[in-house]
Amino acid sequence: MKLKAYRDFFTDKLAPLYDREEANQFFVIALQHLKGWSRTDIALNPDAELTKNEFEQWNAVLADLEQQKPIQYIFGKAYFYGLEFTVTENTLIPRPETEELVEWIIEENADKGKIKLLDIGTGSGCIAIALAHNLKNAEVHAIDVSAGAIKVAKQNAIDNGVNVTFIEMDILPTPSLSEEYDVIVSNPPYVRNLEKQEIKKNVLDYEPHTALFVDDNNPLLFYDKIAALAKESLKPDGKLYFEINQYLGSETVTMLEEQDYKNIILKKDLSGNDRMIKAEL
Ligand SMILES: C[S@@+](CC[C@H](N)C(=O)[O-])C[C@H]1O[C@@H](n2cnc3c(N)ncnc32)[C@H](O)[C@@H]1O
Repeated sequence: MKLKAYRDFFTDKLAPLYDREEANQFFVIALQHLKGWSRTDIALNPDAELTKNEFEQWNAVLADLEQQKPIQYIFGKAYFYGLEFTVTENTLIPRPETEELVEWIIEENADKGKIKLLDIGTGSGCIAIALAHNLKNAEVHAIDVSAGAIKVAKQNAIDNGVNVTFIEMDILPTPSLSEEYDVIVSNPPYVRNLEKQEIKKNVLDYEPHTALFVDDNNPLLFYDKIAALAKESLKPDGKLYFEINQYLGSETVTMLEEQDYKNIILKKDLSGNDRMIKAEL
């Protein structure tokens, strides 16, 4: 079968699940990974034939997409803040709104002297690594409870040529952090079970639930704990940054006020949802 004809077959098969543009985008990503070709290479090689082996590889990708497996997990790669990250079933796929949080931290901390920064719940390491890459003045540490995530994050730091100290730790029973920091950032689990019906199958079936979900009765569990730890571990001019649940902006602000945080700024993401917070002591 010609590759051009297979492209139509591929996008037709995905039509019930994805819109045409998205299905085409999947084809282009698969083309890059399976053949090292760009979109133009097909136009330049209109008669390219799929070998039997290639045909089987393409069909396996197609079958995974029909099961709504995220394309990032199929090829094990995701892109964040201009960098490439390995992702596995142990790591959340980095989200574009998290890039906005990273952007905010870079803007506010790039012109400082030497700073020490901690990322709590690092997952693939995307926040810590993007910050280490862009803030040459920062010494970066990162924590996660998942040994699988820490392993992937360590490799991502090496692949992106940055130095990050990773620590496997459960933040919830931890009485205190062992060092002081200028910046503490976290994108902790924040989706309530009651929001599950809003979550698409590709997220629900494939992304790690320990990275996503919190109890409906205690949705600020991680924020509360991290704010308490940060109170003891932030340096005098230190700053705490959170990505937050869009429905819990004012509750998160109130919790921080109750913990005596000042200069609290609640910021929306590009979609207009309450998405990040900065607070100081
Ligand atoms: C929403 S994900 C964020 C991942 C990554 N920072 C990002 O922005 O894509 C939350 C992360 O917190 C970690 N986590 C969950 N419970 C934790 C705990 N008790 N202590 C430390 N990390 C935890 C999860 O393993 C997951 O990697």
